Amino acid sequence: MKAVTNLLNENHHQIETPCYLYSVSQVAENFSQLKSALGTELIYSMKANNNIDLLMRCAHHLTGGIEIASIGELNLVAGGTSEKYINNPSADKKFLRAAVASRSTIIIDNLTQLTSLIEFVGKRPLKPILLRLNSCVLKQFNPEIKKIRADQFGMDWDTACQAIDICKSHNTPLAGFHLFNGSYQFTSNAVETAMAAKSIIQAIETRYQQALSFVNLGGGFSENWQQSNFDFSAYREVLASFQKHISLAHETGRGLMASAGYFATRVRYLKNIEQQQYAICDGGINQNFLLAQTENSFRKFKTPMIWSSKPHTQQQSCIYVGSSCSKDDVIGKQDQHHITPKVGDICIYDNCGAYNASYTLSPFLKLPSAKTYIIE
Ligand SMILES: Cc1ncc(COP(=O)(O)O)c(C=O)c1O
Repeated sequence: MKAVTNLLNENHHQIETPCYLYSVSQVAENFSQLKSALGTELIYSMKANNNIDLLMRCAHHLTGGIEIASIGELNLVAGGTSEKYINNPSADKKFLRAAVASRSTIIIDNLTQLTSLIEFVGKRPLKPILLRLNSCVLKQFNPEIKKIRADQFGMDWDTACQAIDICKSHNTPLAGFHLFNGSYQFTSNAVETAMAAKSIIQAIETRYQQALSFVNLGGGFSENWQQSNFDFSAYREVLASFQKHISLAHETGRGLMASAGYFATRVRYLKNIEQQQYAICDGGINQNFLLAQTENSFRKFKTPMIWSSKPHTQQQSCIYVGSSCSKDDVIGKQDQHHITPKVGDICIYDNCGAYNASYTLSPFLKLPSAKTYIIE
């Protein structure tokens, strides 16, 4: 937040609103902190934020590579030198071909993907693949696993065994497997997942009759994972007991990007309806759908930090609304103990670096999309 307010203090006219501001140093700090907390390689999941200017500025920090979920994402980073992992259950032949051409590691979701990959690759070199295992496999290898919401990703154990046999009979190189229990799920099953993974390595190596080399244990870190009381040191000890020939990795999107991003709008008008003050801003649900929380049954709106060119001290409750005609275009709220905004003030929302910019409605009403600024 300090970097954002410094920028505004210097010259707030240089910022067009609505906009996103992303801090390269915050991404770098989040990356190095999470990587050391885990003691493994860390892969960045591009779906959280695919802003190419930000990614180019952060590329040398993100040393674990990048997980890509669409051909559009791949096209953005295909020329880069980062290790690329392709992961999408709906990846079609076109995407798989592009993945092979860009020397990416393919995470195979199902048997049809595997057989069509083998068919068109022929004798061309293929980076050793990973099998995506559905979380249901974990329970089979560790009965201590707590409930994980069922999903459509990856293979159950029987299918994984068929995939291993296909790799074996076609000499298709298999590096290992990939797990992901869901966003925000890391702490609920971290140790149990790791224990299951250790046994799965053994079972796959026995069936494949060759050693594996790589396992991605997944992720699911929250935006403010630094504040959780998860015992990372005990977790690292569990990981230290893994087979030495296996390199381990985790992956994250929001754990790196969320706290590195801010969303800013300017107050255009202030008005009261009966006793309630509203600040009508130049951006809202169109550019930042997630702040409007329309998908939550209990909306707990964020309170923006108000930046003003002439600081004032008056306090009042306020509801911050955007520029669309939707009743749901409410993105912030404050109680009577916060500084009341003035027309022209800039409202800054923190923790907006992951998914906020991409998971949104921009084309509605042909309203302008948010600008992006990269800050140090
Ligand atoms: C396989 C996989 N990896 C990583 C992520 C990133 O999740 P998060 O941003 O919560 O870390 C997702 C999110 O959908 C995912 O499906």
